[in-house]
Amino acid sequence: MKDDTTPIRGLAHQDTPHDSAIKHVTGRAEYTDDLPEPAGLIHAYLGLSQCAHGRITAMDFSATLASPGVIGVMTAADIPGVNDISPNGKNDDPILADGLVQFHGQPVFAVIAETRDEARRAAHKAKIAYDPLPHALDPMAAKNAGMGYVTDNLTLRRGDAPAVMTRAPRRIDGRFAIGGQDHFYLEGQIAMAVPGEDEDVILNVSTQHPSEVQHMVAHCLKIPSSAVTVNVRRMGGGFGGKETQMNLFACVAAIAAKRWNRAVKIRPDRDDDMIATGKRHDFVVDYSVGFDDEGRILAVEGDWYARCGFSADLSGPVTDRALFHADNAYFYPDVRISSHPMKTNTVSSTAFRGFGGPQGVIVAERMVEEIAYALGLDPLEVRRRNLYKNGQLTPYHQEVQDQILPQLLDELEASSDYKARRQAVLDWNAKGGVIRKGIALTPVKFGISFTATHFNQAGALIHVYADGSIALNHGGTEMGQGLNTKVAQVVAEAFQCDLKRIKITKTTTEKVPNTSATAASSGTDLNGMAALDAAEQIKERLVEFVAERWQVAPDQVEFVPGHIRAGDHVIPFTEVIRAAYMARIHLSAAGFYKTPKIHWDRATGKGRPFYYYAYGAAVSEVSVDTLTGEYVIDRADVLHDVGRSLNPAIDKGQVEGAFVQGAGWLTCEELWWDKDGRLRTHAPSTYKVPLASDRPRIFNVKLADWSEAAERTIKRSKAVGEPPFMLGISVFEAINMAVASVCGYRQPARLDAPATPERVLMAVERLKA
Ligand code: MTE
Ligand code: MOS
Repeated sequence: MKDDTTPIRGLAHQDTPHDSAIKHVTGRAEYTDDLPEPAGLIHAYLGLSQCAHGRITAMDFSATLASPGVIGVMTAADIPGVNDISPNGKNDDPILADGLVQFHGQPVFAVIAETRDEARRAAHKAKIAYDPLPHALDPMAAKNAGMGYVTDNLTLRRGDAPAVMTRAPRRIDGRFAIGGQDHFYLEGQIAMAVPGEDEDVILNVSTQHPSEVQHMVAHCLKIPSSAVTVNVRRMGGGFGGKETQMNLFACVAAIAAKRWNRAVKIRPDRDDDMIATGKRHDFVVDYSVGFDDEGRILAVEGDWYARCGFSADLSGPVTDRALFHADNAYFYPDVRISSHPMKTNTVSSTAFRGFGGPQGVIVAERMVEEIAYALGLDPLEVRRRNLYKNGQLTPYHQEVQDQILPQLLDELEASSDYKARRQAVLDWNAKGGVIRKGIALTPVKFGISFTATHFNQAGALIHVYADGSIALNHGGTEMGQGLNTKVAQVVAEAFQCDLKRIKITKTTTEKVPNTSATAASSGTDLNGMAALDAAEQIKERLVEFVAERWQVAPDQVEFVPGHIRAGDHVIPFTEVIRAAYMARIHLSAAGFYKTPKIHWDRATGKGRPFYYYAYGAAVSEVSVDTLTGEYVIDRADVLHDVGRSLNPAIDKGQVEGAFVQGAGWLTCEELWWDKDGRLRTHAPSTYKVPLASDRPRIFNVKLADWSEAAERTIKRSKAVGEPPFMLGISVFEAINMAVASVCGYRQPARLDAPATPERVLMAVERLKA
């Protein structure tokens, strides 16, 4: 018998590789488009509106229908159930436009053909006539046009900000335009629907939210959810872009599958994917900050105007979260901040990593920068003076209790040699050359939990088979973030078995019902706990069985690596399982978890929406060419808090990826609509995501390994998916500093985001004048 101390791999807190890492890089990981296609599979392709706002006056499909391979065309009239995929019951999000189009690129019809190419070509042959109506594309144009809100707005208030503002020794007002962002997942949107007997339909899709796809398909087909099965093995990236956006494709595929009784696949090309699906919200923010001569913030007022697009989608919670993070890490003694979710004639904006949080955080950092320049202080000094102290209240009246930023900033300041490097940057710029440098240290504090309290629940299902192998299923979806690996590690730890023993299976609505989207960074927190609950149930039954069989007290039974110890007996795990099966012990369990302690009353703007906060900070240094506006990130140092990491290797990967994606949002990624409402940045040729060559030349990423979640999170770890995205703000502020150097820092550069080379160059010229 093996020694019970034989090291086993893949327990919690170990650096285990992503379970699919090798499959990802060798091409053996199966994505939806790789699944074997059922015989007789046909293809759907969407026809998109060529008008930003207007009534459809005629639809002529004769050329489309005569096109080779075409089987049929579907319009709104062909939807058997409800023509709506709004995730919030607002009924404002048609699958296919019904008489009215509200953005350029809105799906109007779908062509079904034998091949994808035939469907795509035929879609372009349709002739749709429109009677145009006036359109408004950006939030301010929408405000001026009186377009109104797509969803309820929110105001958070504490104290009397207007009164304090008038008394404050100093005050700055500003306007800040913040761009949106395309998700640019590597794998685009895709759905394959397979009709079954009776009402049944099975969908294989790339979604972060299988349960919602299930309910949407049920609605549009007018069938019960129990007739719909949704499967997701993995996504090639989601980043929020597959939280609701898959509903469209799943519904079109499902409706066509039932109508023609053949399997149907739909996969838009990259251009149509970018045009027809939602992105990060751009915002225009008007802010006022009152402060004293030491740089202490006294009052903040702000108005966040968001480009929400034509329908509500997730704009309510996204614009709420912008306000939840408008303080970032700083205490605002008196505050009034409001969201304005503006309806616009653009594609409906949706979830994107940070979920509105980044557009709140960056305004806090802009205000800090303004204060620092006004007082001639290092922005880091202003940051320190305004950091939350435990016991202070946020604008939503949650008490901050787990503040670790002072320690984290100290450590990062020292490890990055911030002070000396800032002095070197100042000295360099004083020489007045063409290349200017900038350096900035920015923190992040990010609230973890869905702000809609009921979403904070999860389920899992574990089967232990008689041969001792374990099948693990939970409601979360894998999009590259390593959720499945981390949850499996939790289960491996519980059973003290090697990770190899655990089979990671696809996410399916058949195994775990009523799941929440894998979003809000909460995947591991929620599903890890649910899986642990299932594992504990099975362990409890095994302990009882072992105690009786080997005649020891239950507290003498212990799970040790690869074995179970019963007093003096050490029995291999597989042997115990075999014996338990023979003794008719139930070896399967469904686990469940709901996050405790959280509550939120939107009507009063008070509560504890977040279970805890995740923290982090980054120092970025950049060089800007003041003749071209181009820049490079010379160095970035990150120190990020993930509590007691479940998997430091995976968590570091998340931090690195998030940092680069955040920097991309604020530098090179620019969305551009022309005056007719056409998105002109809809492919990599016109939309620039960061390349490997854009990464920081020196990139030091460290986890705050001393941190441990104060709350009882899964193994005291903290969520990591979104918070480090906001560390990219340090790059933006460093660029602003380099630009401001051309006027001797007499004023901040006040760059709008993204700080494209074009914008940087214009700011340099403006400040030099
Ligand atoms: N990492 C990868 N590789 N791919 C992704 O699509 N999505 C991000 C983040 N990290 C994403 C990612 C977003 S928006 C969220 S909300 C979280 O992962 C979701 O997963 P989690 O809750 O398991 O962290
Ligand atoms: Mo992430 S934006 O919550 O999917």
